[in-house]
Amino acid sequence: MTTITQTAPLGDRTVRRIGFGAMQLAGPGVFGPPEDPDAARAVLRRAVELGVDHIDTAQVYGPDVVNELIAEALHPYPDGLVLATKVGGARDERGEWVRASRPEQLRATVEQDLRTLRTERIGLVNLRRQVGGPEPDAVPLAEQLGALTDMRDEGKLGLIGLSTVSAGIVEAALEITPIAEVQNAYGIANRTDEPVVDLCREHGIAYVPYYPLGSAFTGGPRALAADPAIASVAAGHGVSASQIALAWLLAHYDRMLLIPGTSSVAHLEENLAVDGIGLDDEDMAALDRVAHLGAPSF
Ligand SMILES: NC(=O)c1ccc[n+]([C@@H]2O[C@H](COP(=O)([O-])OP(=O)(O)OC[C@H]3O[C@@H](n4cnc5c(N)ncnc54)[C@H](OP(=O)(O)O)[C@@H]3O)[C@@H](O)[C@H]2O)c1
Repeated sequence: MTTITQTAPLGDRTVRRIGFGAMQLAGPGVFGPPEDPDAARAVLRRAVELGVDHIDTAQVYGPDVVNELIAEALHPYPDGLVLATKVGGARDERGEWVRASRPEQLRATVEQDLRTLRTERIGLVNLRRQVGGPEPDAVPLAEQLGALTDMRDEGKLGLIGLSTVSAGIVEAALEITPIAEVQNAYGIANRTDEPVVDLCREHGIAYVPYYPLGSAFTGGPRALAADPAIASVAAGHGVSASQIALAWLLAHYDRMLLIPGTSSVAHLEENLAVDGIGLDDEDMAALDRVAHLGAPSF
């Protein structure tokens, strides 16, 4: 039986391994306000009430909408709450995701995060390298990380992470500054990023998978429930397929931090209960047979 630790290091902090991804709180297409802002704020309050101390957000969610909901629901923030944001992208007037990864754009995004989250310091900022398509970012990594380390020196952010990056970029970044987390697309049915998970294991870096339930964009949770291996292990434990997908992630690497996204209090409560699910060797072997479902490529 795999023993699941409840907390893990995130840079020099320690957080609960199950946090909250706030992207689902924006309107359709992660653009504009949600239909029911009160319900969105209730999800955030319930998360903190249940012990969540790590919330993933971004200026691009809305834009600004999700940060503002977080501030309205939770400010003044409880001690120990780590708010993690990401820079490197922006939204155009039609809501398309576009690159904004030059050093001055990274700084402007962090400044906007500080304003909308109503804080003087962001706990962690992820540099997202790939935005709006597969083309590599032409801005040198050292210049981007230079902008973030300057803001860290100024006290505007605590930790630096990377998102949507290859193993090569992680290695190059580690030559420049400590990296607290890597946030890439990964999950039980999308394991193509395994080499980066291995690299994080080697360096003791937190790995924070986005799309841990396969993503709303591609109907992930429904597809997980239709997989026979997941369905059978879920039935054996009397839990949902989504819970098995999350429990597998917790068992796979002890510095895997979860940020499942939901706009529903019921799903939030379900997701926070997975650290009590003990997967044994037989379960883990069965779950190795899960079919690859992939994830959106952005
Ligand atoms: N670094 C990046 O570039 C990047 C990219 C994408 C996402 N992210 C972050 O990663 C977080 C997670 O990704 P995600 O939200 O896109 O995808 P996800 O967590 O894989 O899936 C979210 C979907 O799962 C549903 N869901 C959640 N809990 C469920 C449950 N217990 N049972 C059934 N369905 C459930 C949600 O619907 P309901 O709302 O109905 O629960 C939503 O449709 C985001 O919130 C965001 O913070 C980062």
